[in-house]
Amino acid sequence: MITQQIVLVSRPNGTPTLDNFRIENVELDLMKDDEIEVEGLFYSVDPYMRGRMNDAKSYVAPFKIDQPIEGAVVAKVTATRSGNFKIGEMVTGRLNWRHSTITNGKGLHKIDTTVAPASYYLGILGMTGLTAYFGLTDIGKPKVGETVVVSGAAGAVGMVVGQIAKIYGCHVIGIAGSDKKVKILKEEFGFDEVINYKTTKNIKEAIAFFCPKGVDVYFDNVGGEISDAVIANINFYARVVLCGQISLYNSTEVPVGPRLQPMLLTRSVLMQGFIIGNYESHFPKGMQQLVQWVKEGKLKSTETVTHGFDKLPTALLGLFNGENMGKMIVEA
Ligand SMILES: NC(=O)c1ccc[n+]([C@@H]2O[C@H](COP(=O)([O-])OP(=O)(O)OC[C@H]3O[C@@H](n4cnc5c(N)ncnc54)[C@H](OP(=O)(O)O)[C@@H]3O)[C@@H](O)[C@H]2O)c1
Repeated sequence: MITQQIVLVSRPNGTPTLDNFRIENVELDLMKDDEIEVEGLFYSVDPYMRGRMNDAKSYVAPFKIDQPIEGAVVAKVTATRSGNFKIGEMVTGRLNWRHSTITNGKGLHKIDTTVAPASYYLGILGMTGLTAYFGLTDIGKPKVGETVVVSGAAGAVGMVVGQIAKIYGCHVIGIAGSDKKVKILKEEFGFDEVINYKTTKNIKEAIAFFCPKGVDVYFDNVGGEISDAVIANINFYARVVLCGQISLYNSTEVPVGPRLQPMLLTRSVLMQGFIIGNYESHFPKGMQQLVQWVKEGKLKSTETVTHGFDKLPTALLGLFNGENMGKMIVEA
């Protein structure tokens, strides 16, 4: 059987372009005993994929040249020689960017589409929802009445962070890149205030204005100058959750910023990075909580869905231009 796949052609220097990818036809291997054939329905594009385009050692191996990109996918079982999967079942897990693929099913989880739409398992009930939940609750440790600031607030992780912080009874300030995002976060997702970092001249002063009692928890999705401005307003015993640094992912030079250590030291601040994989053994508990909040209507989701398997590279690049509100997804 012939299917389509998307491979990495070259490694970007700075911001990636469509030329770094190629779409091609490939003949699938024959299905062996204990294998299944799945068809991808929804594909996740994520900022961490930019790191995998580099040939650099990290917590996850680089993509290989001329080999398919790999990422989180929601797929349907279309043929099976495995006792563990039936035709028609919906699964999620890491798969190659192929329209159809043969797999032994290891690492795939069946999903319950009666609980939520299938695509939620790539976002609010998937990796980004779990990242928001564990990063905020385990490292941020928000308390009633505290002020929580989240950057990348209109993205998949950020908008869940803001909503969970509201559930915990916090005053929540978001930072996002357009007036439309500001409006939606305030009117539909319960954020108390949102700063448009692209039109605000002095973000440090804006944070001081909206956080008169200082910042108790900063959930950092973007890094760079936005984070410098937030940390300048950090409180005694605050927690800084280092989740992502997207503003630096395409940098070709190491930017120089203020030295943060004296401020962290003198205000007894905890700053901790994390990778969501650290919490793998706690995923069932996290999922249970997220599902409950979704069912209760306390957690809402929104997605930006691009249509067409061939649009995967375009959607991935769109993350770096802020083209998404909520989780960026490609429907094949
Ligand atoms: N630690 C972990 O395990 C883990 C897991 C998942 C994600 N992450 C990280 O969390 C962050 C958010 O991930 P996500 O999946 O939720 O992505 P996302 O926020 O849905 O999408 C990326 C968003 O980042 C913003 N952005 C892009 N370039 C920027 C820049 N130069 N400065 C400021 N903002 C910029 C854009 O929104 P604007 O319109 O606001 O610019 C864009 O929509 C990323 O840094 C990601 O790497 C970490």
